[in-house]
Amino acid sequence: MAATLTLGIIKPDAIASGKTGVIVAHLQQAGFVPRAARMVRLSRAEAGAFYAVHRGRPFYADLVEFMTSGPCLPVALERDDAVAHLRTVIGATDPAEAAPGTVRKLFAESKGKNAIHASDSVENAAREVAFFFTEGELAGLWGRE
Ligand code: CMP
Repeated sequence: MAATLTLGIIKPDAIASGKTGVIVAHLQQAGFVPRAARMVRLSRAEAGAFYAVHRGRPFYADLVEFMTSGPCLPVALERDDAVAHLRTVIGATDPAEAAPGTVRKLFAESKGKNAIHASDSVENAAREVAFFFTEGELAGLWGRE
């Protein structure tokens, strides 16, 4: 199957607790190749725009607050069927419900402070990768066999 991209974000809780390296290593061991990454401190406007799909949900304000509370690390990750595989590897939103061995079971504190984000569809992956990385940074990656 052709290699595809999805977006992961190592969230501020995992950065603050020193888990960045072990989480990236976990993703690599699961077959993902990081193709672009950048440590960023999101503004409220940026976090709000990124999570616009959740605007109006009860957790939206807390989500924006948390995602702007410290640096995070967006990573464009490549492998076959990347979106579905990353969702499996990170586990359920709530770490209490996440399967053993998943990133959230291993490293997340709570439903809000849940260590990592992953795109939830192929369409959203394209939008989310483009939100953080330019075409130039990703040149030649999309559609590679
Ligand atoms: P993420 O994959 O980044 O996408 C939206 C985020 O909202 C989710 O992970 C959670 O961290 C956060 N969130 C907080 N509370 C909830 C909730 N009740 N249901 C879903 N997502 C929540």
